[in-house]
Formats: sequence, structure tokens, C-alpha cells
Amino acid sequence: MPAIEQTFIMIKPDAVRDRKTGQIIDRIERSGLTIEKMEKCVLDEETVKVHYAHLADKPFFPSLVAFMTSGPVVKMVVSGLSAVSKMRTLMGATNPLDAAPGTIRGDFAVDVNANVIHGSDSLENAAIEIERFFG
Ligand code: PPS
Repeated sequence: MPAIEQTFIMIKPDAVRDRKTGQIIDRIERSGLTIEKMEKCVLDEETVKVHYAHLADKPFFPSLVAFMTSGPVVKMVVSGLSAVSKMRTLMGATNPLDAAPGTIRGDFAVDVNANVIHGSDSLENAAIEIERFFG
């Protein structure tokens, strides 16, 4: 049975810079999910390194940290029925080349290095990320 969940969502610096914030928020709300909290801010390097710690040994890690601190993000807590998986479906695949048309990444992103939006991949990580960014 679907349950009401909370998930952590972040519109990344490329999309904020390209003025896509409003269109992305519109898609989230039109899907029936609710934005519980929202804040525009510039992330510090330490927070980004902790958030992506599982990727620290990847060759793209330094450029990921540089990208995520390159300008403002819009961080959100989004709630609703099956919010974690619903947002993952709405976002599309991590690599925009694999993301279906009609998904946020499929429509707004072109490059895996700057793929417009982050969403928690599990309910457990959602709780950790909400605490990390809004705690
Ligand atoms: S993994 O390796 O499957 O555990 O990676 P994943 O948890 O799916 O997330 C990878 C995040 O790193 C960002 N990123 C890249 N991924 C792959 N290749 C390159 N070059 C790359 N550059 C950045 C990717 O957007 C994922 O970020 P989030 O914010 O989690 O979507």
C-alpha cells in the first residue's frame, strides 16, 4: 500500500542558472506532490563532499564538487504518496542521454556532469539528506 513519504530534492546550479526552477517546481506540483520546505542557497564544499562521499573515489568527484558549489541550488523537502519513487520517475535517468522525453532530465539536461536535479534514492537516504540539508 503506498505510504505518505518525504524526500529530499535539489535543483542543481545549472538549472538555477538557466532559470528552469519555476518549470521544475511546476512539474513537481502538477504530479500531486507537495513542497513542504524550500530554500535557495549556495552549498559549502564540506556539505557537498559529505553528500557525495560514496563517490569520493570516482574520477569525476572533484568536478562534481566544483559544479555543486558553483552557484545557488534550490533545496526542497517534497512529500506525498510514494514521494521517493515518484520523484525518481519524474526526474528520469541519472545520465540525461538515457532519460526519457517528458522527464525532468530528459527535457532539461544534456550532460551527466550537470544533470539539473538530485533526488534521494531511498526512504532511508531521504531522512539522512533532509537532516543534512534542513536539520
Ligand atoms: S553510482 O555510481 O551509481 O552510485 O552513482 P549515483 O549514486 O547514481 O550518482 C552519481 C551522482 O554523481 C553525479 N555525477 C556523475 N555520475 C556519473 N558520471 C559522471 N561523470 C558524473 N558527474 C556527476 C550524478 O549526477 C549523480 O548525482 P545525483 O545528485 O546523486 O543525481
